[in-house]
Amino acid sequence: MPGFELFSDLERKEVNDVLDNGVLMRYGFDGMRKGHWKAKELEAELRSTFQSDYVQLVSSGTAAVSIALASAGVGAGDEVIMPTFTFVASFEAIMMLGAIPVLVDIDDTLTLDPKAVEEAITAKTKAVMVVQMCGSMANMDALRTVCDKHNLIFVEDACQAIGGSFKGKPLGSIADLGCFSFDFVKTITCGEGGAVVTNNKDYYTNADHYSDHGHDHVGNDRGAETHPFLGYNFRISELNAAVGLAQVRRLPEFISIQKRNYTIIREALSHIPEVTFRTVPDGGEESYAFLNFFLPDLESARKVSKAFKDNGIDACFHYYDNNWHYIRKWDHLTNLKSLYPISKEVKEGLQYLQTKSFEQSDHYIGRNISCLIKLSWTEEEVKTRANKMAQIIETIN
Ligand SMILES: Cc1ncc(COP(=O)(O)O)c(C=O)c1O
Repeated sequence: MPGFELFSDLERKEVNDVLDNGVLMRYGFDGMRKGHWKAKELEAELRSTFQSDYVQLVSSGTAAVSIALASAGVGAGDEVIMPTFTFVASFEAIMMLGAIPVLVDIDDTLTLDPKAVEEAITAKTKAVMVVQMCGSMANMDALRTVCDKHNLIFVEDACQAIGGSFKGKPLGSIADLGCFSFDFVKTITCGEGGAVVTNNKDYYTNADHYSDHGHDHVGNDRGAETHPFLGYNFRISELNAAVGLAQVRRLPEFISIQKRNYTIIREALSHIPEVTFRTVPDGGEESYAFLNFFLPDLESARKVSKAFKDNGIDACFHYYDNNWHYIRKWDHLTNLKSLYPISKEVKEGLQYLQTKSFEQSDHYIGRNISCLIKLSWTEEEVKTRANKMAQIIETIN
């Protein structure tokens, strides 16, 4: 991660194909496009990658989460359970629908704690959204059991975990609906883009129409299509899809580079008694996009994080002090700083954030360092980096 590090003639060829042909829109212009359908081709590739019946490409990962929830009927006043550790997009996507994000603790997997999820369920809960953060996953069996027991929609945000799997199934294809991001910094990039993945035909049809103003996509005359329900524009463009098409074909290559680099760093750190690694549930395989490890306490994590920066070890995040990925710094959410009026239901629904504390999440995120694994490093560079990281950690602890 990220795929842009290895842009090549393959991406250029697909993009030039679109420009030569001149149709930048994914729908319509059938005569003019002479058989070029990059978004459709990418959807077919992704169906096979995710071993899923349906894939709807959209404009971003944030749109994918919102569309997934909308497609399953989540809307005004519904509660959606989500983790305290994720990207801000998770609550944005929920609130865009007038629904209420209910934040709950993570566990040592660094994502949803199934026990915390069950405790947070109320009569208003409609969905549980797991976020497969930093290339790994939650205890999916336990979460599925909770969702089935309470008849809840199970949504899987796998924006950061393409290429990972659980019990042989690709992450993002396990819950009722999966969401992916292909923004600029993801393992597979379209520049901007996202996808909704599902085996449920109704959810797929809803996602297909909803992401294109409600168009039913029947026939080949857009003006004559009907609009069974309201929608918006979350379309991906052919140019973005073209980049993703070249990239997705390279996914196995990218994952194997990530795995090599991850393994070198992990082995160098695993000899240090103060270092422990995140728990990956039995049957899970990470995407190796990040290496996540815990230090003994917050102070040590802060010192290591600073020393990494001071010594040129980039892209290692101490999310406890980060503005974008952890509840502690989301004061714009807690204080509901919105450009426009927010509904009474959402205001009341978010009151709990004024008083609720998340000690269990603090316990994990405070001690966690999350290191991005780059694709462009040579083996020698990774080894040098790994040794330097180990030295820094040993000096501080
Ligand atoms: C976990 C997670 N969900 C959703 C998103 C949103 O994706 P996008 O940037 O494509 O809107 C991101 C982006 O970083 C993410 O990390």
